[in-house]
Amino acid sequence: MSRRKIAVLGATGSVGQSTLDLVAAAPEQFEVVALTAASNVEQLSKDARRFGANLAVIANETLLPELREQLQGTNIQAAAGSSALAEAAAGEAEWVMAAIVGCAGLEPVMAAVEAGKTVALANKEALVTAGHLMTEAATRSGATLLPVDSEHNAIFQCLAGQDREMVARLILTASGGPFRDWSALAMARVTPAQAVAHPNWSMGAKISVDSATMMNKGLELIEAHYLFGVPADRIDIVVHPQSVIHSLVEYEDGSMLAQLGPSDMRVPIAHTLAWPRRMHTAVERLDLLAVARLDFEAPDEQRFPALRLAREALAAGGAATVVLNAANEIAVETFLGGRIHFADIAVTVEAALANMSDPIPQSIADVVELDARARHAATQSLAETVS
Ligand SMILES: NC(=O)c1ccc[n+]([C@@H]2O[C@H](COP(=O)([O-])OP(=O)(O)OC[C@H]3O[C@@H](n4cnc5c(N)ncnc54)[C@H](OP(=O)(O)O)[C@@H]3O)[C@@H](O)[C@H]2O)c1
Repeated sequence: MSRRKIAVLGATGSVGQSTLDLVAAAPEQFEVVALTAASNVEQLSKDARRFGANLAVIANETLLPELREQLQGTNIQAAAGSSALAEAAAGEAEWVMAAIVGCAGLEPVMAAVEAGKTVALANKEALVTAGHLMTEAATRSGATLLPVDSEHNAIFQCLAGQDREMVARLILTASGGPFRDWSALAMARVTPAQAVAHPNWSMGAKISVDSATMMNKGLELIEAHYLFGVPADRIDIVVHPQSVIHSLVEYEDGSMLAQLGPSDMRVPIAHTLAWPRRMHTAVERLDLLAVARLDFEAPDEQRFPALRLAREALAAGGAATVVLNAANEIAVETFLGGRIHFADIAVTVEAALANMSDPIPQSIADVVELDARARHAATQSLAETVS
């Protein structure tokens, strides 16, 4: 059997490294053809050499000379900038891992989708900002979208081979993050270090803060709506602190199907890597006797207003999810820089949505332009808050 040619966009991040970890354990199944990063030249060049990639792309163009130097004496092509990212996505790979964080991943993901690739989609912000454009492009090109987020991957598995007409609702589980049982007062003053210390999952900084505010679950609600074509009023969120059940589908006959597994992103990533088959992984198995019990609670939208904001943005449609995402990315970045309080993240997003008066984006170029405008507005409003 020939090896599956793969590209990893965002190879130096948490999801990217987990993907390469699985590939390293199964070299007879996969051939790495392209890897990308934003600025981590050292890790990118190390992995490009290790996996014998054909192309290594650094998004930050000023770092191209350094990348070239690191790859001297190899046949690996070094490239930089947005057109090179698109080339990595749409080039010789058959399977593309979309693991760039934030809306910055949108254009490369779309390049892969338009080229008809099998796209393992971790970059949820791309779907949040351009969900309908992306699913329409996939239908046109014949691309396959495989969800990597553990919740959506679980739902994807629970829908396989089932009667889609008989889906009653989707249930997304949420760990509740590190502040699940904290009061609003205590949460208002948490530090970035506390916010990135997730109780169950090891992830990049941005998604860890999103988990702490529960904006992550709000983004996932929007993501689920676009991926599975289910209206928001039939997508529920349930807090499940053990993170053992990754999500569920309820059918009209009263059956509920769930997917369970350890809290290790290598499990859903492996599902997409081997899809439609399965592959062996060395992850620690789930020990049901050690887990012993599973708890469920309703989410608290008073203490976690991001959930409400995401639902409102999806209901408003059009430009609102782009503005929600952009304001959130800027606010999280500012919080991680220690310049605003944790509670200011949701306040910033709410203000951005309240001030929004943008037309519905009709193309990816419209989304990119709107994203830039919304970032600028959020940055300005935060500058006033900080000063
Ligand atoms: N981590 C998880 O467990 C997890 C689970 C579910 C979904 N996701 C989603 O997967 C995506 C990646 O998350 P992560 O936790 O792996 O993030 P991460 O650890 O922060 O890694 C982000 C990756 O994107 C690259 N990158 C950042 N900004 C970029 C830009 N402007 N242009 C091009 N590349 C850029 C980074 O390169 P440098 O290293 O050079 O900065 C890095 O390779 C996010 O959308 C997240 O929501 C993650």
